[in-house]
Amino acid sequence: MTHEQLLWWQSGIIYQIYPRSFQDSNGDGIGDLQGIIQRLDYLQWLGVTAIWISPIYPSPMADYGYDISDYRGIHPLFGNMDDFDQLLQEAHNRGLRIILDLVPNHTSNQHPWFLESRSSKENPKRDWYIWEDARPDGTPPNNWLSVFGGPAWEWDEQTGQYYYHAFLTEQPDLNWRNPEVQQAMLDVMRFWLDKGVDGFRVDVMWHMVKDKELRDNPVNPDYQVHMATYEQLTPIYSTDQPEVHDLVQQMRAVLDSYGERMMIGEIYLPIQKLMTYYGPDNNGAHLPFNFLLLSMPWDAQKIASAIDEYEHALPQRGWPNWVLGNHDQPRITSRVGTEQARIAAMLLLTLRGTPTIYYGEEIGMRDVPIPPDEVQDPQGLNMPDKNLSRDPARTPMQWDGGEFAGFSATRPWLRLGPQYKRPHVAAQKEDPHSQLHFYKKLIALRQSQPALLVGDYIQVHADHQALAYIREASGAPALLVVLNLSHKPCYLAIQHRTISGRVLFATDETLVGTAVVNRIQLGGDEGMIVELDEDE
Ligand code: GLC
Repeated sequence: MTHEQLLWWQSGIIYQIYPRSFQDSNGDGIGDLQGIIQRLDYLQWLGVTAIWISPIYPSPMADYGYDISDYRGIHPLFGNMDDFDQLLQEAHNRGLRIILDLVPNHTSNQHPWFLESRSSKENPKRDWYIWEDARPDGTPPNNWLSVFGGPAWEWDEQTGQYYYHAFLTEQPDLNWRNPEVQQAMLDVMRFWLDKGVDGFRVDVMWHMVKDKELRDNPVNPDYQVHMATYEQLTPIYSTDQPEVHDLVQQMRAVLDSYGERMMIGEIYLPIQKLMTYYGPDNNGAHLPFNFLLLSMPWDAQKIASAIDEYEHALPQRGWPNWVLGNHDQPRITSRVGTEQARIAAMLLLTLRGTPTIYYGEEIGMRDVPIPPDEVQDPQGLNMPDKNLSRDPARTPMQWDGGEFAGFSATRPWLRLGPQYKRPHVAAQKEDPHSQLHFYKKLIALRQSQPALLVGDYIQVHADHQALAYIREASGAPALLVVLNLSHKPCYLAIQHRTISGRVLFATDETLVGTAVVNRIQLGGDEGMIVELDEDE
């Protein structure tokens, strides 16, 4: 494959926007669509090519928009449909694609479908959700647990049955075994595709179908008390059922009927299972999200073998992808530290496949400690002693050194970090050595080097400190990437290859242009990309 043959989502870089926290335009302390429009020039300047926006639909906000009460509308907090159409137009004018969040697994309990469904056992929409009788002793139909704590079954007094909710009681799961549900959701996709959206990020794709017999999940022998209560069981019957793939393929067929649209699946599963979501004939999700770098310890050897395992497990024509953070996970800078955040960026942007950047990563935003009485995230509120709140990674984007960081004219919905005056876009834009410029240069490099866009990935070194790999495409210079994942200097000799070339990009800019021959040394927290000589 040559880089000219790549589709937009293969050659592109995705940027995730959590809309509540990106830019407030109307002074209510909550980000909105007009705010995103104001910042499109920034995103274009940065060089990303697509934005994924977390849910913007009408919602009671029990789970901050992941509880949808109308799949075809815009929440007034974020604006209205005219604002959305304008955003789509303005983004497309700048060559930026728009990916919407689609939440097919569950609705809000305020969605008209659920209101009908719970109104009586005879209602035509009763079977749109998962209703079950109690066991003879009155307890729930099985032992399944909610991801957000407590049992996954809620008793409905009025109709005398339980309904299933994998997340909050306010988020009843749809019954995807019902063909009417399937058609209704495919129609939702068509509604947005007709408007011109370029793709969907599909929420909890691996949850969509549950075991027909609703068998009990087995106990997880590795459970430890600090973990979410959900992890007490291994969810082999409530998630990742074989039937889910038929549904994913139906969704894919809708996308394919529109041309170059795409779908990313949110899937937290081990590598081998994750791969099945590409579909038997590459007719499933275009990109099953690869969360390896989110969950791995920051250890060069472990990361190198995980990359290798992932690369080898990919099905033919399956396109890889990489992620360092999202709205559900601690931020990368808080996980690995400010210095290593640049190494992480080099990894993200030089591995094979589509990178997704979480807003604020490019300026090194950190998790912000939220005092207990300000916690908003239901996951944090429901399990207060386990430190599972996702609020710290969802704080307002830090645009400048003003009172509310240029995010809003008023106090934001979630507090800014105590250090918000330091990492911010305005200051970093002025400083050519800042992390923001580091990201911008790296992005530009990635987009201009065929070896990074389409080249093979060849691992050439991994030890307890550093890893190195070559990216190589025919007809273009090969690149050697060397990353020191430790704070101490490292020395390495690449096995089975003679190395000779020149530094093209490095954390230490003074190295750029210097020659590299065979042995490589790097300071702590340093990384470099070497353009290899052709005859090598
Ligand atoms: C996904 C979302 C998360 C949400 C959950 C339930 O994991 O990323 O934010 O809470 O689904 O919809």
